[in-house]
Amino acid sequence: MPKRQLMLALDVGTTKVSALVAEAKTDGELAVLGIAATPVVGMRRGLVFEVERVALAIRDAANRANSMAGTELTQAAVAINGEHLTLTPGQGKIALKTGVIREEDLQHVMAKASHVSLGNDREVIRVIRRGIAVDGFRGVVDPVGMVAHTMEADVFVVSGLNTVIRNLRHVVNMAGLNVLNFVPAPEASANAVLSDDEKQVGVVHLDVGGGTTGVSVYRGGHLQYLGVVPLGGESITSDLSVGLGVVATQAERLKLEHAAVGSEREGTLEVRAVSGQAVKLIPIKELQEIVAARIDEWTDYVEKQLQKIEWTKGPAAGVVMTGGGALLKGLDSHLATRWGWPVRIGGPYGLGGLSDLSKSPGYATVVGVAKAMMRDGVAPEPETLWRRLIQFWVNLWG
Ligand SMILES: Nc1ncnc2c1ncn2[C@@H]1O[C@H](COP(=O)(O)OP(=O)(O)OP(=O)(O)O)[C@@H](O)[C@H]1O
Ligand SMILES: [Mg+2]
Repeated sequence: MPKRQLMLALDVGTTKVSALVAEAKTDGELAVLGIAATPVVGMRRGLVFEVERVALAIRDAANRANSMAGTELTQAAVAINGEHLTLTPGQGKIALKTGVIREEDLQHVMAKASHVSLGNDREVIRVIRRGIAVDGFRGVVDPVGMVAHTMEADVFVVSGLNTVIRNLRHVVNMAGLNVLNFVPAPEASANAVLSDDEKQVGVVHLDVGGGTTGVSVYRGGHLQYLGVVPLGGESITSDLSVGLGVVATQAERLKLEHAAVGSEREGTLEVRAVSGQAVKLIPIKELQEIVAARIDEWTDYVEKQLQKIEWTKGPAAGVVMTGGGALLKGLDSHLATRWGWPVRIGGPYGLGGLSDLSKSPGYATVVGVAKAMMRDGVAPEPETLWRRLIQFWVNLWG
């Protein structure tokens, strides 16, 4: 019987750690066997600030996803996020000795193209293929087996700051897990929700999280741009807390229940003041003005990212938003009116198994990490008695 291809994916987000145990089926489907999210404190704008608290949340989410799946996976692919992520274009060209392109030649030209100059403080996270040319003919999808004299590769190298990468790996290790590989969070969430057709005709993807907004743009079937804005839904909550004089949990509830971009709603809301039990009346208009000011600032940030792309015309497939922050009422229609492009909220697709929760926009990143593992063929080693024993001791002493 063939071994089951089981995988553990993690997304250490600013507000929650998500863990997903999935199985890559032989028909190419990804079946969700276990999924869990644990709220986290100790992350800021996608980066680890308090290692112990973050490690606890990772351990909890991974344990719950594993026990739901009946697995004990400890080798994880992990999303990496933050403003430090950058995209550097690279090119490479090789002469082909044998005349027929082999898998090794493809790896060779990709390695050559990914030799870009990065500062000493940065390291490569992932190399994304943009295009292959064979004897000058561009747009070759699968060059292996073709007959040619030369092959060229165009790639994007996603890099990040050493210190951020080291700390994320450290915190995952503290949770008793190992990092198999890192996947850039904006790319992961885009891959979970965008169709090939959307990527072909042109699409903007926004992953609106708690502390960050990932921006990625696809055209002609390939990634054209990737960036991270250090702003997300948490800043609306903290503005409401300060502006309305309520505690953060109340501010969050007010946001989820009443905030709506572009709303003309009148009236007042009753909430308890920060000090004591006195009841406060909050004009809804005031709440909406606070939200509108932050959304204006956020929109400016996102637009600055989009201005880095040369648009001849807008993205034909419009904008697809994921992340919890995308659920802010009225945000989609606000952007559609401002940019004149269609805007939709997207959830992960193409999943089997326990897929209901994993189809929600807040799980796009962790699903995308699992999809990347499946696509790249990165699967954990089979479970062995030895490994179970190690894990037993890690759990006992960790
Ligand atoms: N219905 C909703 N309306 C408005 N905001 C929402 C809603 N549901 C969730 N959010 C907001 O979404 C944010 C969390 O989103 P998400 O879970 O995608 O973030 P994260 O992955 O933890 O953070 P990041 O990606 O920035 O590291 C929070 O700020 C939360 O208030
Ligand atoms: Mg996120």
